[in-house]
Amino acid sequence: MAKTIAFANRKGGCGKTTLAYNVVSYISKINKRVLAIDFDSQAQMTLYAGLMPHTIEYGIYEMLMYFLNKGRRLQKCMKQVRNMFIIPANQNLASFDTAIVNFEHKEMILRDLLMEIEAEYDYVIIDTPPSLGYSTINALAASDFVVIPVKTDFLSLAGLAQMMKVFYKVNVTLNPLLQLLCVVPTMFDTRTRISHEVLEELKDNFGPSMVSDPIRVDVKIAESASHGLSIFDYKPKSRGAQDIKGLVDFLLEKM
Ligand SMILES: Nc1ncnc2c1ncn2[C@@H]1O[C@H](COP(=O)(O)OP(=O)(O)OP(=O)(O)O)[C@@H](O)[C@H]1O
Ligand SMILES: [Mg+2]
Repeated sequence: MAKTIAFANRKGGCGKTTLAYNVVSYISKINKRVLAIDFDSQAQMTLYAGLMPHTIEYGIYEMLMYFLNKGRRLQKCMKQVRNMFIIPANQNLASFDTAIVNFEHKEMILRDLLMEIEAEYDYVIIDTPPSLGYSTINALAASDFVVIPVKTDFLSLAGLAQMMKVFYKVNVTLNPLLQLLCVVPTMFDTRTRISHEVLEELKDNFGPSMVSDPIRVDVKIAESASHGLSIFDYKPKSRGAQDIKGLVDFLLEKM
């Protein structure tokens, strides 16, 4: 059975997609079978993988709708990019919440679909949108673990309590097996006091073992996305690659 990890935080721009995609890329390079799911209608993980969302005829939205109607998977939604598999997203995903409004168990659609698929993978990694709609709820309901990236600035701490409330609610109502794997401090700027303060605050709040080493600011990470390449395919020796490799080691060991 695959271990399923959702990268989630309601706060926008905290590094969910960047971490999720690069973690998938690294895991694929250590010869594990890994499936990435882009569950955000912004389709940024799809772009990061070098796929053009407007050319995606069959993505996660189509896969879930087909599954709801026919009870089986639509294989052509799965794309292979180098060593990894991805279920990409397109614009249609923006209408997911309204499309499922009349279905029973709307929170469990992804979980039911993954039950059909997960035996084929060691890891399934889900990128979620910066909102708490049914995409995020489905992702949390379908996951074994959640990783919460937090940008190391003051305002990011404010949104964290709300994210934790959602985590506990899903834990109690939909998925008692869901565990918080860790919080990841992102875009850490070693020179600024606020970065260090936020890091300490996270360790005080969650306990040091629940906070990974920070991912430092590295322009190579932002550049890699614009080339449609993971940091490991773009600049494998960069600071960003080192930090994300360290994160993957930490996550794999913790699981
Ligand atoms: N360590 C880093 N160093 C430099 N830039 C980074 C780093 N991590 C992420 N970025 C950049 O920050 C921006 C936001 O990151 P990303 O898209 O991963 O956040 P997100 O949480 O997925 O955003 P959204 O909530 O909109 O989905 C992107 O332009 C990304 O390239
Ligand atoms: Mg994103």
